[in-house]
Amino acid sequence: MSDSREATARANANIALVKYWGKRDARLNLPAAGSLSATLAGLCTTTTVRFEDAPYARDRLLIADQQAPPSMLKKALRVVNLLRTRAGLDAAVTIRTHNDFPTGAGLASSASGLAALAVATAAAAGLELAPHELSRIARQGSGSACRSLYGGFVRWDAGEAKDGSDSFARPLYPAEHWEALRVVVALVSTEPKPRDSTSGMTHTAATSPYHAAFVASVDADLDAAEAAIAAHDIEALGRVAERSCLRMHADMLAAEPPLLYLQPLSWRVLSCVRELQEAGEPLFFTVDAGPNIKIFCLEESVPRVRAALATIDELNGTIEARLGHDACVLL
Ligand code: PMV
Repeated sequence: MSDSREATARANANIALVKYWGKRDARLNLPAAGSLSATLAGLCTTTTVRFEDAPYARDRLLIADQQAPPSMLKKALRVVNLLRTRAGLDAAVTIRTHNDFPTGAGLASSASGLAALAVATAAAAGLELAPHELSRIARQGSGSACRSLYGGFVRWDAGEAKDGSDSFARPLYPAEHWEALRVVVALVSTEPKPRDSTSGMTHTAATSPYHAAFVASVDADLDAAEAAIAAHDIEALGRVAERSCLRMHADMLAAEPPLLYLQPLSWRVLSCVRELQEAGEPLFFTVDAGPNIKIFCLEESVPRVRAALATIDELNGTIEARLGHDACVLL
């Protein structure tokens, strides 16, 4: 290759409303069940990929200008290698990535990160791929990344094919479908989480007696969540999202040894959410594999949510987001 090629892409994080927890194929990142998420505008990864000219250049990953640990480079290369092979390239890549939110703290940085990487690598390699193909490729870096290709509300069906060809995300409704929806993230901790999702899922599937029941409950939740979103029914959506989240955490807690992602402060935030709900505020919570609590509410409720969270001194702040848009190449 004579000219180095470079492209920059941006993708937003997504938060699952119906959770993905468990794989039917770990190598291909194929989920045991579907999932459904909301893409958020406030939590974004920007990634530049450059195919190097230098003959002895090595693949490199820099996160916020710091050399990333080998495990992260390995994950990124799962995505890069698929695209590099497809484009018939063998040049080394330099990946520079930046999150505008804390990395690895259960705020879905792997989702936005690997989605932005797939889009930037394809563009730098000169490949023009349909979004669902990029979704399938991003999935192989991190399952939830396949959902960050799209804005608004997104559904990832488990698929049935052994090679994963039918397992990618599809957009349900764009961000404009529910303009008033907001997410307030209560930052319990910005430290990287102690255990990554893949090892947490494998451990849960291998040891939790609740796992089969969790997986079996997902299909009904997907349809109920989709119907609630279609109807802009925040209370119905909240019932599904809270039960999906709590069933996932029950599954994790039943593993041997148990996985405890929630911290005492997380529980205080959850009590605060319950108090707001009991006072008639239409809102709900969800939590991923980390301690931070995401509160979905309507725009008009944000000041009251913020005021309630402000009474919890130990919180490390809040992030507010609205629904975000598709991943894209930056020109
Ligand atoms: O895509 P991963 O491997 O980072 O797993 C994501 C798992 C959860 O965030 C807990 C749930 C989800 O559906 O995003």
